[in-house]
Amino acid sequence: KSDDRITVPGIMAAKGRRKLTMLTAYDYCTARWVDRGGVDMILVGDSLAMVMLGHEDTLSVTMEEMLHHTRAVARGTQRALVVGDMPFLSYQVSVSQAVENAGRFLKEGRAQAVKLEGGASVLKQVEAIVEAGIPVQGHLGLTPQSIAKLGGFKVQGKDEEAAKKLVDDAIALSQAGCFSLVLEAIPAQVARRITEAVPIPTIGIGAGPACDGQVLVIHDLVGLFDRFLPRFVKQYDTLGRRLEEAVSRYRQEVESGVFPGPEHSFGTIQ
Ligand code: KIV
Ligand code: NA
Repeated sequence: KSDDRITVPGIMAAKGRRKLTMLTAYDYCTARWVDRGGVDMILVGDSLAMVMLGHEDTLSVTMEEMLHHTRAVARGTQRALVVGDMPFLSYQVSVSQAVENAGRFLKEGRAQAVKLEGGASVLKQVEAIVEAGIPVQGHLGLTPQSIAKLGGFKVQGKDEEAAKKLVDDAIALSQAGCFSLVLEAIPAQVARRITEAVPIPTIGIGAGPACDGQVLVIHDLVGLFDRFLPRFVKQYDTLGRRLEEAVSRYRQEVESGVFPGPEHSFGTIQ
């Protein structure tokens, strides 16, 4: 039932009361399992560029690809709030383009909110998108769409000047109307400062335990992505290995004539 869905005000009200959980999903089946697992939010992350499409980074994924996956996730989700991740160049160029593309995530993707990366540089976009009635989740720290500028997937906010900038950006994003804020790869004490400085929930990934909630990429959580494993990931299963084992058993049983058996077949062979 759609009236059981977690709402943006519900997410905001959780701050200081209970920890929030968010995971990514990119397809219908996975979204169903993740939704049943009871997380508050499902992010259709642009990380799908890497874990679903095999790109080196998140830069090349398009609006059309993001919408394609967002629609599938929305169809598989009943309870969690679905957040669509705005891809590189879908909001940076102009405010009007940002509003139009954010709107497409709700109108065509059937998401309930969007996420975009950056601080001071995207405040106008955040204000205009929120003004259009579209909830926005911010994203600070390691912002993978700026990988060329950052020079790699590195921890951010390590010196006091950078930490102060993150706190200022977080406050500004909150004042611009963000309903929550992803903090990626920053020192735990900086994430705590930010969490205490803003009235909206912070959702950490590699940002320590003081955040109001946590987010991980589902492929990392269950052990499906094996190209690299960041320090901040906890692997709760090894589904990739189990999948390989299932495939290998299937192959062996077909090759040896064990599968299909009579119970899988129609009629009998003399
Ligand atoms: O794209 C993504 O999966 C993300 C999360 C890591 C926050 O942005
Ligand atoms: Na992302």
